[in-house]
Amino acid sequence: MTSREFDRIGVIGLGTMGAGIAEVFARNGYAVTGVEINDEALERGRQHLEHSTGRAVARGKLTEAEQAELLGRITFTTEMKDLADADFVVEAVVESLDIKKSVFRTLDDIVDADAILATNTSSLSVTEISAASGHPGRVVGVHFFNPAPVQNLVEVIRTVVTEPDVLADVQALLAELGKSPVVCGDRAGFIANTLLFGYLNHAVAMYESHYATREDLDAAMRYGCGYPMGPLALLDLIGLDTAYEILDTMYKQGRDRLHAPAPILKQMVTAGLLGRKSGRGFYTYEAPDSSKVV
Ligand code: 3HC
Repeated sequence: MTSREFDRIGVIGLGTMGAGIAEVFARNGYAVTGVEINDEALERGRQHLEHSTGRAVARGKLTEAEQAELLGRITFTTEMKDLADADFVVEAVVESLDIKKSVFRTLDDIVDADAILATNTSSLSVTEISAASGHPGRVVGVHFFNPAPVQNLVEVIRTVVTEPDVLADVQALLAELGKSPVVCGDRAGFIANTLLFGYLNHAVAMYESHYATREDLDAAMRYGCGYPMGPLALLDLIGLDTAYEILDTMYKQGRDRLHAPAPILKQMVTAGLLGRKSGRGFYTYEAPDSSKVV
């Protein structure tokens, strides 16, 4: 049980993660306000949600009427001021400290004094982002995993000033959504990415040195260790640009050589090979955002 009542949820940024997070809340009956920077990005977010819920319809997990009801719970807007009645806002914009800080600064004048604000950053400092808000005690990190509607883990990041009742309410809210929250302090990478990205980076280095083929590297971890995807296929799902940024931030903060991005990663990003989202990464896909390898 949460001590606050959560009726309306705000999600800022409807990229892969933001759209997935909006879907999670709408699936659970919450009214959601999804905010994007312009009409084009808003339309992409709407399409992402239609595609993802359409997949559930195709698999017989949702009826068309339920899909329409779910999408009907989401209000799409380009105006941050439409978040005025939100009790819980999740920011999922690009991984830029300056942009995130400006979002939190703006939010302060819009939401009620007891609304909880969360950032879905995967490696930036939650403390620094929260300091831009006038109420840092009500700010936490909520780090969802990709695909957000499927992965149960959500890391909840507390800063040194996060209020205990805020932390408890966020954990309870996430548990109500069927998620499994874990709590950790504010360090780049949090728990899962710190452990995961050393492994992913190592796989890239093995691929780069022609030690094994991409197929064999992936098959080894799938069939030998029971991972649902091999490391290179997973990097394509995460997005190579996102992976590079996460590794670079962790490396700069912790100076652990495990996290020094393998050179080919940067080269692939520069060449526009971003993974599934661009249609090509370590593998080539039928179309951008498709999971079908050609
Ligand atoms: N959006 C919504 N739902 C999706 C989806 C997506 N992008 N991809 C798959 N699904 C759903 C399917 O609809 C299906 O749902 P159902 O069981 O209700 O019918 C279910 O997931 C299984 O999908 P598939 O049968 O198509 O495919 P798989 O069984 O191969 O599963 C996978 C796909 C869920 C992506 C699985 O391979 C997996 O779990 N991979 C590992 C993902 C992972 O490790 N994520 C964490 C990345 S790290 C991260 O996110 C942190 C960040 O900071 C970078």
